[in-house]
Amino acid sequence: MNEGKQDIILKELDRIRKKDFTYESGHILGSMCTQLHPIAKQVYMKFLETNLGDPELFPGTKEIEQKLIIFISKLLNAPTNSTGIIVGGGTEGNITSMWLAKKLSKKKEIILPESAHFSFQKIASLMDMKLIPIPLDKNYCMDIDCVEEKISKDTAAVVGIAGSTELGTIDPIPQLSNICQDNEIFLHVDAAFGGFVIPFLKRLGYGVPDFDFKLKGVNTISIDSHKMGYSAIPLGTLIIRDKKLAEKISVESSCVSSKTQTGLMGTRSGGPVAAAYAVTQYMGMDGYEKLINDCMNRTRYTEEKLQKIGLQPIIKPIMNVVGIKLKKPDVVVQELTKYGWKVNKIDRIGCIRLVLMPHITQQIIDDFIIDLEKVCKQTGQL
Ligand SMILES: Cc1ncc(COP(=O)(O)O)c(C=O)c1O
Repeated sequence: MNEGKQDIILKELDRIRKKDFTYESGHILGSMCTQLHPIAKQVYMKFLETNLGDPELFPGTKEIEQKLIIFISKLLNAPTNSTGIIVGGGTEGNITSMWLAKKLSKKKEIILPESAHFSFQKIASLMDMKLIPIPLDKNYCMDIDCVEEKISKDTAAVVGIAGSTELGTIDPIPQLSNICQDNEIFLHVDAAFGGFVIPFLKRLGYGVPDFDFKLKGVNTISIDSHKMGYSAIPLGTLIIRDKKLAEKISVESSCVSSKTQTGLMGTRSGGPVAAAYAVTQYMGMDGYEKLINDCMNRTRYTEEKLQKIGLQPIIKPIMNVVGIKLKKPDVVVQELTKYGWKVNKIDRIGCIRLVLMPHITQQIIDDFIIDLEKVCKQTGQL
């Protein structure tokens, strides 16, 4: 390689990259992604050129993918005849699940909570499906009493969220499971964020409801390694209860080494897959439990600090997500950006949202609260 040229390109990229916020600085306080585990970085590079869209060329990488799917299946208590599809993240997980639901039912309506991720709007547009939103109850969860009355001859699927994007809430999945079983309707659980949180909250003794395949009515669950799985973007998994169903979204695949291909993606790198598997092996169940415990401790600490300056979380945080109701959330977000903080606003609720990801330390919270108090005073929120 021409070293002079290489140097110039790298310098240019370094200069532009400096415009980015970094997890390392701790100033990204509103993202559901985080600094990746060090082993993920190392492994990602090793597998960069592998292509899981052509698996017989890379049987080793394919074996690693299977091992990752087995880890995630166990985490979600999936039955032995289940299968998994690697996806790029929560959006693709939801798309793939609804694709399957539509194929199975030949129907078009999706019943989902008002808090569902905006990826469902893409689904409605892409697949010509209709969203039937269910209002939330006082705990910001899907109001279960409204679900049954919306079920109709056109219902393709019901969706419950296990760890909502807005506030980290968990919909009443056990009740949804019963309703869907009684009505023979497909149930998808979007656990993109909560999938790597709820199992460990349970181990830590938090009273959280069941959300996984232990519930017989659950057909698919999506879960993201690039969120609380502590690994590299892009990596999510969609687990399907019955592997036979996956055939519905398989096509014959000529010009690659496998006879059929299942799911949306064609050519895709084994890098994020191997990285995510390596992280699961390094962390193990105990490592994740400790990670979640640390995030929850920081969440409690944030709640206490907020209360001290006269602000309250909207609801008692269920997981490591804190919503703070404000009169003018957009102004606060703007002002906080001037202090170098990136938090998200949620217009629907009129709040700002903090996500206490692993890169957020106690010191970061202390520094942030000082600036938040200043901004709230300046803008008349306090
Ligand atoms: C519950 C939930 N589902 C789906 C998604 C979409 O995930 P991605 O951005 O990885 O596609 C998100 C993103 O935050 C989410 O919180």
